[in-house]
Amino acid sequence: MDHEIARAWQTGLPTVADLHLQGEVPSIIAVGSGKGGVGKSTLSANLAAKLGQSGQQVLLLDLDIGGANLHTYFGLPTPAYTLADYVVYNRIPFERTIQPTSIPNVRLVSGGKEEIWSELEDLPATLFTDLWHKILSARTDHNIDTVILDLGAGTQKHTIDFFSSAHLGILTVVPEPTSIENAYSFLKTVLWRQVDQTGLRTQLFQEMANIKERLFQNPSVQKSYRHKLQELQTTYPFFMHQLYRLLHSRKVGVVMNQVRCQKDIEIYRSMCSIVPDYFGYTTQALGYLHYDDAAWKSLRNRRLVVTDFPHSLLTRKIESIAAQTLSSLPRGSTYG
Ligand SMILES: Nc1ncnc2c1ncn2[C@@H]1O[C@H](COP(=O)(O)OP(=O)(O)O)[C@@H](O)[C@H]1O
Ligand SMILES: [Mg+2]
Repeated sequence: MDHEIARAWQTGLPTVADLHLQGEVPSIIAVGSGKGGVGKSTLSANLAAKLGQSGQQVLLLDLDIGGANLHTYFGLPTPAYTLADYVVYNRIPFERTIQPTSIPNVRLVSGGKEEIWSELEDLPATLFTDLWHKILSARTDHNIDTVILDLGAGTQKHTIDFFSSAHLGILTVVPEPTSIENAYSFLKTVLWRQVDQTGLRTQLFQEMANIKERLFQNPSVQKSYRHKLQELQTTYPFFMHQLYRLLHSRKVGVVMNQVRCQKDIEIYRSMCSIVPDYFGYTTQALGYLHYDDAAWKSLRNRRLVVTDFPHSLLTRKIESIAAQTLSSLPRGSTYG
């Protein structure tokens, strides 16, 4: 691992603190998962609605690049201008991508389905730099309290970067082995990336290479990443201090969706203890959602569950997740 390899994985998100924005940035939530179709968009859209109804000014961004469909959850047509027009084509200012929704206090940035997104790997490494700065300045520019990033599934570089840069990354899973396996791979990739970010920030490239080797490339040693990180502290004290600074300023929230039985709830509870114990993340058990026909029925009506079925159990559970989310967000957010 050298400097060049590390740089190759830059997507334009910050590796240094934006200290001048301290106290002025909105709270940033990223909703991710290892696997698709687990309910990220359902959760993002309904969470946005609940936070909006509670008085928060919310900006919801559809970052499911190439598969964007959040506008449908809000009953909106594909907008004339989408994120691609700003990020890729650079033909409109960011402000033009922001649309009002029928939910009070909730504004939406649609992703667009332009084919150019499929060539993303070939696009400039700094593709999302300007967007990230717009997100950070959304409080001062647009009076936004909370930004919600609805990410695509999987471990694409920009997805991992948005998740690992947010104050709260919500890991969404369903109680199926494939979803859970992919969720753990997702968190491992996030940790890998956070080691990279620390290496870039501190310019300790050799330490970064050694730490990655010791953490990730020694499967014969059956120890948790948390345990291995602790062991590395004596050998690389400055690097580890910086890495812990990064890790401790962020949280991983766990949501299990499409729960059908008590056993599923037990799987949820065990995930909520594995995430901090195995990975060392500060973890918030945000709650679980039952499998409920209200989810697909409301989508078919192009409405949100919380407005279409306001008295359903699903809505009550979403309200509880929204309350948990709000309580776990940093107050007067800083970014560093
Ligand atoms: N709790 C639930 N019960 C039943 N169906 C659900 C639930 N949550 C989501 N769905 C359905 O699962 C499908 C995928 O959900 P979506 O939110 O689009 O997933 P993702 O964004 O992760 O790809 C949708 O058809 C949605 O209506
Ligand atoms: Mg989605």
